[in-house]
Amino acid sequence: MSELEHLLACNKRWAKDVQNEKPHFFSDLSKQQAPEYLWIGCSDSRVPANQITGLLPGEVFVHRNIANVVVHSDLNCLSVVQFAVEVLKVKHIIVCGHYGCGGVKAAMEDKDHGLIDNWLCHIRDVYRFHRSDIDRCTSEDDRLDHLCEKNVMEQVLNVCSSTVVQGAWKNNAKLSVHGWIYAVKDGLIRDLEVSMKGLDDFEKANR
Ligand code: CO
Repeated sequence: MSELEHLLACNKRWAKDVQNEKPHFFSDLSKQQAPEYLWIGCSDSRVPANQITGLLPGEVFVHRNIANVVVHSDLNCLSVVQFAVEVLKVKHIIVCGHYGCGGVKAAMEDKDHGLIDNWLCHIRDVYRFHRSDIDRCTSEDDRLDHLCEKNVMEQVLNVCSSTVVQGAWKNNAKLSVHGWIYAVKDGLIRDLEVSMKGLDDFEKANR
């Protein structure tokens, strides 16, 4: 018996329960997906997009990486954004970070983590941009949480300045980009109130 048998058994039970409750659920979903949201979040196992927002399969398109970073040379992330915006025509892109993020913490440390340091250098840039602000925090935990917030805000700007989102806004697409942060300790999401709905908002934020 496979060591993962329990997961497959759980999946069978779940599929049966869904089928019993909504007999057409899977057959309808198999024909198309029409999510309204693109979620860009951290890979952290404690921050699963669907569960914490109560969304069902088919309702949110998801991209996750360590520390929810959006880099303009990352073809993986950019392809997800392009597909979500141009093909699925999502109405909202949500960048959701979380407090106590291990990736953000590692970026603040002065030690060698191997290959991942190449990825974390993007967060070190965020730290550098906001250093005076972050260093005003009195405890290590506060400094980390402050950088987690700044990182979300910076990634929102990166999403907004991508060619895909700029192009969508130039074509008057109804598309908003939001920055959220999740607290693992109480399960609650906080809106960082940096939402942008179009080129006007983007230009104001860059002034
Ligand atoms: Co994280």
